[in-house]
Amino acid sequence: MNLLVIGSGGREHALCWKLKQSNLCEKLYCIPGNAGISAEAECFNINISDFRALIDFTEAKSIDLTVAGPETPLADGIVDYFQLRGKKIFGPSEAAARIESDKAFAKQLMLDTDIPSAGFEIHECYESAGASPLLHKFPVVIKASGLAAGKGVIIAKNRIEAEETISDMFIAKKFGSAGSKVVIEEFLRGEEFSLFALTDGTDYILFPPSQDHKRLGDKDTGPNTGGMGAYAPAPIADSVMLKKCEDRIIKPLLVEMKKRDTPYQGLLYCGLIEVKGEPYVLEFNCRFGDPETQCVLPLVKADLVRMFLSSLEEGGIKRFLNEHLQESLFYDGKYAVCVVAASGGYPEKYEKGFSITGLDREYTDTVIFHAGTACKGVNIVTAGGRVLGVTGIGDSFIKALDNAYHALSQIEFEGIYYRNDIGWRALRR
Ligand code: AMP
Ligand code: GLY
Repeated sequence: MNLLVIGSGGREHALCWKLKQSNLCEKLYCIPGNAGISAEAECFNINISDFRALIDFTEAKSIDLTVAGPETPLADGIVDYFQLRGKKIFGPSEAAARIESDKAFAKQLMLDTDIPSAGFEIHECYESAGASPLLHKFPVVIKASGLAAGKGVIIAKNRIEAEETISDMFIAKKFGSAGSKVVIEEFLRGEEFSLFALTDGTDYILFPPSQDHKRLGDKDTGPNTGGMGAYAPAPIADSVMLKKCEDRIIKPLLVEMKKRDTPYQGLLYCGLIEVKGEPYVLEFNCRFGDPETQCVLPLVKADLVRMFLSSLEEGGIKRFLNEHLQESLFYDGKYAVCVVAASGGYPEKYEKGFSITGLDREYTDTVIFHAGTACKGVNIVTAGGRVLGVTGIGDSFIKALDNAYHALSQIEFEGIYYRNDIGWRALRR
């Protein structure tokens, strides 16, 4: 098969790396890709929101399966667009992707189906939001309902911050139309984790649970980022917890989506928090998480192309599982830790174009995934905030951690910054 991956981050590099291991993969393309991806896939610079141009590309290159990495094309209906034109594409329809692109929709859905999540209100104007009874207890969580590139969630510590946020959203329109509807939520205190389910709309396969590190600084201090590192499997999600997540969250969600005639096919990302031993949903996403994917996919033993194909048709996951009854789909007893190396100044202002050294050394049980990198002559240079995701793999969590940090100590670029404590919760356990 000829495969096309859409996107340019560490998640897409991990997808390319894993898809390429399939014996079904004849030729791999990526749009637009990055310097690391170009070693795995032939990269082309096409605007990923120009669906017509993407279809033309799939025709020119005889693409058999397209995988869209980021949420924006999925929320904009790339899957419907491709399917209408007879093209195979992995991911949810525009209607199903609303679980991420419309937080108000997702919260209402959870309420209707008794999926545990924080108490909330939905507001469509400044006056009603400002009068919300939820603004009497702090901290309180205020979210722009639409897509806001991970920046639309504000945790307000007091009334002044809450009012400022509501004004930013409705009056200053800081998040554009994404902020025309606002979700105000009770603040939940607990440990977060991420759980991915691959689904054909009815059955599903759980990936090993993982844990992201969203804050910039060690010990979870400083501003929120796109994610500074992740590891899997995350011990917080033991078999008892996973069973609760399946029964109370994943199964009811899939049943409800099917009942509404918008079955959820593709990758379902559950952003969860454990409160007093119980799982609550913080968010659903309609795609793989980043950086979590960079530590989850190295633990996949099965053929990812076949897994993705099985999600495209009703009954596909069941068939896939029946064909693999004797095999484990994931490497048992293996651990993976991904540490993100970022540009100095990220997530605020940072410079680009610095040469990266140490990438071509041999590192045992380590995969270096590229995010913001570009080729400049013979050099690979920084080209984004999150530059690399260095994933160590091992038979123990400590070994995986050591492998990642050992490789990182050999990699350099001006202003390199990474957290030194990725996995601290797992270590504490
Ligand atoms: P979201 O994009 O909705 O997951 O929110 C991003 C981050 O904000 C989450 O990963 C949490 O760290 C935090 N967050 C969101 N909702 C809540 C909540 N109800 N209580 C506490 N923290 C939250
Ligand atoms: N790791 C957070 C996300 O992918 O949304």
